[in-house]
Amino acid sequence: MTETDIKKGLAGVVVDTTAVSKVNPETNSLLYRGYPVQELAASCSFEQVALLLWNGELPSDSELAEFTAFERSHRALSPELKQIIDALPATCHPMDVCRTAASVLGAQDPTAEDSSREANLAKAKSLLAAMPAVVAYDQRRRRGQELVEPRDDLGYAQNFLWMTFGEEAAPPVVEAFNVSMILYAEHSFNASTFTARVITSTLADLHSAVVGAIGALKGPLHGGANEAVMHTFDEIGIRQEETAEEAEARAKAWMDDALAQKKKVMGFGHRVYKNGDSRVPTMKAALDAMIEHYDRPELLGLYNGLEKSMGEAKNIKPNLDYPAGPAYHLMGFDTPTFTPLFVASRISGWTAHIMEQLESNALIRPLSAYNGPDERHVS
Ligand code: SDX
Repeated sequence: MTETDIKKGLAGVVVDTTAVSKVNPETNSLLYRGYPVQELAASCSFEQVALLLWNGELPSDSELAEFTAFERSHRALSPELKQIIDALPATCHPMDVCRTAASVLGAQDPTAEDSSREANLAKAKSLLAAMPAVVAYDQRRRRGQELVEPRDDLGYAQNFLWMTFGEEAAPPVVEAFNVSMILYAEHSFNASTFTARVITSTLADLHSAVVGAIGALKGPLHGGANEAVMHTFDEIGIRQEETAEEAEARAKAWMDDALAQKKKVMGFGHRVYKNGDSRVPTMKAALDAMIEHYDRPELLGLYNGLEKSMGEAKNIKPNLDYPAGPAYHLMGFDTPTFTPLFVASRISGWTAHIMEQLESNALIRPLSAYNGPDERHVS
């Protein structure tokens, strides 16, 4: 093995097959089990998409009804888990709360060590149902607000917003949030999913793999980018009295300066998509709907200014995190909550890959080219 054979970051390396999703940079497309993600976002609930990812087919009415009943009856935050979350400092990152909660849910699950598909599918459904209450309560406790219990008369997206804000969200907000959950659900061998597969390849349990995936997603080069996008908007300054044109000019100047300083600006670029992230048009439409709903044209100016400047300077396009960040901001989520929203959605993709890895497992253990000292001896 020589250093010239090294593919740093595994860039361009195909390490296994998957039937869960197909990311095609040539056609700038993304298929979940063969369905274009744009079609799923336009016509499905997140619940239907999660079942598609797990089972390989869109659910029948009876399958959806059965899962809906299960999901709605497994949403509540247990007193024990609430107590553990309350013991975590409000200064810790919300992703640490997600990571801890996934670990606790695993420790509390009597089937944790059962790696059969049936047991893992049940664990996946339980985790998907339980995470929204963790994310919602964590944001509320940091605001000094009380826990809001889930409602079993609301769908997944509606209930998530209900538990977070304690009021029923307007239909356009529910629609935009549902679209974001579908778009964030799955994306082949991204860093956090591959982390989950590496952990699963040792035959460790599903919850251990999800905890590891949450750790990987936290980084700003990956899931943490949606939070970082909002920090960029805040650094430029959001001025509600400003016109879109005025905001655009300030954003463009900020980006020109950032790039002149060789800064990496989160929300732009992608390891696989080089002509733009296939999900961006759909999420941008959801952002546009939020900008219209809340009458915030200055945010569109900031969005356009950064995008135009990055495009002109480096021909680098936005990724999904770029429109998702300001959309979540408009919905009322606190910026550090953005990546936990990504966790809640990606639990579906991670667990689909965990079950697939076990179907034809091989321990994932690559090689390395040694470049340390030659052999030497203590005396
Ligand atoms: C997600 O993999 C997935 O599928 C992930 C994801 C999913 O759904 O799971 O799609 C979700 O993580 C999206 C990506 C979110 N991350 C960010 O927004 C972080 C900012 N983006 C960059 O760090 C970067 O684009 C990566 C990490 C996403 C991809 O980088 P690559 O493929 O390793 O390419 P690179 O970093 O080597 O960059 C190539 C060139 C460099 O220029 P040079 O140094 O060669 O002159 O492009 C430049 C980079 O400097 N570049 C950027 C840039 N992204 C690339 N320059 C400024 N800002 C950026 N954002």
